[in-house]
Amino acid sequence: MRRPWFRSFCCALALSALMVGQSFYGCVPPTSNESTAETTKEPISDKTVESIAEVTPEPTQEAVVQPDGSAEATPEATPEPVAETSPEPNPTETTPENSSKVVYYGQAQTILQQKCQVCHTTGGIAPFPLTTYEESKGKASLIKWSVENRRMPPWMPSTRKDCPEFDHAIALTDEQIKTLTLWVDGGTLEGDPAKATQYTPKQDTLSHVDVEVGAQSPHTPSGKNPDDYHCFLTEMAVPQTGSAKELTGFQFLPGVKEMVHHVLIYRVNSSYAQTLGQQHPTKEWSCTTGALFNQSGLTQGGLIGVWVPGTDVVHFPQDTGMPMQAGDHLVLELHYNLSNLPTPKADQSRIRLEFAKTPVKVQLQLTLQADFSLNIPAQSKGHEEKNTFTTPANVRVWGLMPHMHKFGAKFRTDLLKNGQNSCFIDIPRWDYNWQQTFFFKTPIQLAAGDKLNLTCTYDNPTDQSIHWGDKTGDEMCLNFYFYSVP
Ligand code: HEC
Repeated sequence: MRRPWFRSFCCALALSALMVGQSFYGCVPPTSNESTAETTKEPISDKTVESIAEVTPEPTQEAVVQPDGSAEATPEATPEPVAETSPEPNPTETTPENSSKVVYYGQAQTILQQKCQVCHTTGGIAPFPLTTYEESKGKASLIKWSVENRRMPPWMPSTRKDCPEFDHAIALTDEQIKTLTLWVDGGTLEGDPAKATQYTPKQDTLSHVDVEVGAQSPHTPSGKNPDDYHCFLTEMAVPQTGSAKELTGFQFLPGVKEMVHHVLIYRVNSSYAQTLGQQHPTKEWSCTTGALFNQSGLTQGGLIGVWVPGTDVVHFPQDTGMPMQAGDHLVLELHYNLSNLPTPKADQSRIRLEFAKTPVKVQLQLTLQADFSLNIPAQSKGHEEKNTFTTPANVRVWGLMPHMHKFGAKFRTDLLKNGQNSCFIDIPRWDYNWQQTFFFKTPIQLAAGDKLNLTCTYDNPTDQSIHWGDKTGDEMCLNFYFYSVP
C-alpha cells in the first residue's frame, strides 16, 4: 500500500501559512543582497585573489555579509575546523618527509582532473580553468585554501564515518586533500610531463529519452547582480491523454553552460501549470530558490530533483522512480551565476526525461519536515532552530534535500531510533549556492515512532529578527525526504 505520508505536512504548511498570516505563494525578484562580491575579503595573499574576490560570493568566514551588501569583520572569525580531516596520515600515501616530492604530473593533476575539471574548464561554470600545469600553479594557494576548508569541490554533507554515505559524493578524500596541500607547500613542482595522466570525463547517458521539454521563452539575466534566480514553466511533460508514468532519470541541458549554476526541477499538475501560465504569460519569471515550496506547489506538484554541473545525468536510485501524472508540466528553477560571463547571454535550457518502460519496484514519494515558527533574533550568531518529526509508518528513506536561505550556517538531522541517536545528515558549512538532493548509498529503514531531529543554525548580523518566508531575505528550515512505503 502506498500511503500519502506527506498529506499531513501540506495541511500543516497551509495551516501555518494561515496562522502566521504569510503568503508562501508566488515568486519574488532577488533582492539587492545578492550582490556581495565587490565587498568580500579574501584571506590569502595571492595575485589571483583580486580576480577571485570579484567573482566569489562569499569566499571567507571572516566577513559577515550584511543585507545591504557590505561585509563586516567579526572577531571570532576563525575558519571552521576541518573536522573531516583525519589526523592520521595514511602511511602508504605521501608523508610530510617526502612532501617536496609531490609533483603535478601524475599526482596533483590526477585529482584536479577527476574532481575539479568538470567545472573548472574553459567554458565551464567555474570562474577559471584548472586544466593545465600553468593554470593550476597560478591558483595554487587558493586551491590549497579551498580544499583544506572543504569549500571545493562543492559537497556540503560531512563525510564523517558516523554519517551515512551518499551516492555520487564528490568530496575529496583526506589523502587527496593532503596530496594537493603538499603539492602547494612543496612549491608546486611540475614533475615529468611524460607521467601526465590522460583523462576523458566519462559520458553518462539516459537509457532512453521519452520526452524533451524546455523553457518556453529565453531569459537574459540583467547582469546587475552576479546571481539571478529565475523560474520557467515548460511545455507539458506527460501527454494529457496519456497515463501516469514513473520518472527514472533526467538529463538537464543547460542553454548557456558558463552561466547555469544549478537547477531545481518541480513537477506541477496541469491545473497548477495553467495558473502559473496565467500569472506569467511569458512562462518565465524571477523567483527565489524555494519559492515553489509553498502550499500550492506541494499539493499540486513537488520537487523532482536537482541538477548541478557535473551531475550530467540524474538517475533515481536503482529500481525506483518518481510518479508523474497525465498533464504534468515541469518548472525549472534556474540559478544563474555570472562570474564567468560578464556579458550575460539569453538562456533557454531544456531537459530530457526517461520514464520506466515497466513499472518500477519502488515509487518514490516526497515529504517535508519544516520548522515554520522561525524566530532568528537580530545580531545573533549560531542561533539554533529545532524541529522533531515522528515517523508515522514504516518507511524507507532514499534521499533528502535540505533547504535554508542565506543566513543559514549549519544544517543537521539526527535519527533517534530505539533510544540511540545517529547522524542522518550533517552539513557543517551551509552554502546556499550549492543545494542538492542527496541519495543515500543504502536507503534507511525507519519504523513508526522513530524521530528525525532537525537543527538549523543561523548567523543573523542584521538589526532585524528573521522569520519564515520565501524571499531570499527571509529564512526557511526544512528537509525534503524521498521515501517509499515500506
Ligand atoms: C560542480 C562544479 C565545481 C567543481 C567540481 C569544482 N569547482 Fe571550484 N568552483 C566552482 C564555482 C562555480 C566556483 C565559484 C564560486 C562558487 O560558485 O562557489 C568555484 C570556485 C573555486 C575557487 C575559488 C575560491 C572559492 O572557494 O570560491 C577555487 C580555488 C576552486 N573553485 C578550486 C576547485 C578545486 C581545487 C576543485 C577540485 C578539487 C574544484 N574547485 C571543483 C565550481 C566547481
